[in-house]
Amino acid sequence: MMIHTQIAKAIAKTLDYILSEEEVYNLLETPKQSHLGDVAFPCFTLAKIGKKSPAIIANEIKENLKSEWIHSIEVAGAYVNIFVSQDLSGNHILNQVLTEKSQFGSKPSTGEKVLIDYSSPNIAKPFSMGHLRSTVIGHSLSHLSEKNGYDVVRINHIGDWGTQFGKLIVAYQLWGEKSLIEKEPIKELLKLYVHFHEEAKKDDALNNQARAAFKALENGDEECLTLWKWFREESLKEFETIYQLLGITFDAYTGEAFYNDKMAQVVSELQDKHLLTLSQGAYVVELEDMPPCLITKKDGATLYATRDVTAALYRHQTYQPKKTFYVVGHEQSLHFQQVFQVLKKMGYEWATSLEHVAFGMMLKDGSKMSTRKGKIVLLADVLAEAIETAKRNMNDKNASLLDKELVAKQVGVGAIIFNDLKNLRTHDLEFSLEQMMSFEGDTGPYVQYTFARISTILEKGQYQPKEDTFCSLGEQAWPIIMLLDQFPSLVEKSFDQADPSQVARYSLLLARSFNKYYAHTKILVEDNHKQTKLAFSYAVSLVLKECLRLLGIAAPSQNVINEMS
Ligand code: ARG
Repeated sequence: MMIHTQIAKAIAKTLDYILSEEEVYNLLETPKQSHLGDVAFPCFTLAKIGKKSPAIIANEIKENLKSEWIHSIEVAGAYVNIFVSQDLSGNHILNQVLTEKSQFGSKPSTGEKVLIDYSSPNIAKPFSMGHLRSTVIGHSLSHLSEKNGYDVVRINHIGDWGTQFGKLIVAYQLWGEKSLIEKEPIKELLKLYVHFHEEAKKDDALNNQARAAFKALENGDEECLTLWKWFREESLKEFETIYQLLGITFDAYTGEAFYNDKMAQVVSELQDKHLLTLSQGAYVVELEDMPPCLITKKDGATLYATRDVTAALYRHQTYQPKKTFYVVGHEQSLHFQQVFQVLKKMGYEWATSLEHVAFGMMLKDGSKMSTRKGKIVLLADVLAEAIETAKRNMNDKNASLLDKELVAKQVGVGAIIFNDLKNLRTHDLEFSLEQMMSFEGDTGPYVQYTFARISTILEKGQYQPKEDTFCSLGEQAWPIIMLLDQFPSLVEKSFDQADPSQVARYSLLLARSFNKYYAHTKILVEDNHKQTKLAFSYAVSLVLKECLRLLGIAAPSQNVINEMS
């Protein structure tokens, strides 16, 4: 925050560096109401140091504080309230945004890697709305990591191994029909899976059969393996269409099965380090403050946790990430705590760099969606419907739009992504098609619309981007200047807290502020402020576009500004 940095510099100097610039910076606040000032400095810390009343200190600071960045100063109790010199800082920030463009707020490269484990749907099951959360949060985090100077490794830890494949193989052998599966693979496989659970409730022998089938799969049984490969390929094809629509790519699809030939070594390492305990035929690692972590079952079969411990070791060797984010629902919190503690017990200090980025569940009618009970909403269906709605809206409102298909896709998909990201990720989310489809209010389409609106203004005003000294922007623009100034620290905070919702909410605030400004200001009127107003609008559009990009959402403009930026 450029403004805060300048104010902190001036205050620290006035104080003869009793507090460093950084200490002052960290104390600075934003007054609750804007008519009280732009920046507030509370004097409690200084009062303690100097054993004086904070009000006296505040007045002393007021007397001595001088800076070209400060317009005026008022004291309110223990606070020094500062009004910033709007023209100087407005000009400065505007020039900074216009020079740096999409690089505004970007940090220099750290040369270090952040690994993100996200999306990770399960083979032979449809891509659910639940997996959407991991996908869009992870995708946005990957952009935030890059913006903060990290190289990113995007990993899709596909659920392609585990006892459910035993169930599926048995179900297919008993009731499956090849031709049906070839036509609609995931739908038919899901049917088989649901049917298996209904039948297994009546006949427990089926569960034993499924366990045996999975064991055979683990031992490389030809028939089981062929079926498994087929299920996997068909499922991946279907996931790929969704990723394409969302504009998402991965660096690796190393799913659970990838670790099959790597687990034995990890199990023996655990053995060598005397961490394994025999418990009713199974091997577990005893842990502090939580239930033990199951490593192998009675029959020697490995588990989800075994694969995650192995994956963490493999990734550490292969990529040496500075940090790893696991973007997975909070119902798996215990699982990750267990995996992390096992790694710590193995003596790996880097286990502290692993972080479970948990998120709330997608609920339907107040309860969890479950594949087993068939109570599930398919992302593919929701996406298709959102795009259709976007298209209908356009036909009504903007029949002359050029690339209608493309824009409908960008708006429909944007609506869904934004709806997910604007909420604090730890909260549960009630699935509501209606809310997602709402193209007004706190939505992605509203931000997209504001961006396109500015693009049109710039086109009409024939704006040519250039750095310049600008005229005064006026009162109406000031809250927006302050918002632009906050963008770099927002980028940093959203990454530190692994929280894209801050970017989403910021973009809403910026869009709303701009629309308010536009309602009061005639931008296109031919006066000598026109270029400044256009430059200002362009700066806002650059930051809006960058917010959308960070969220993984397209910014359609249908005009020349795209080529200019
Ligand atoms: N496939 C799992 C699921 O759908 C998520 C995997 C998350 N990543 C991991 N490394 N465990 O529940």
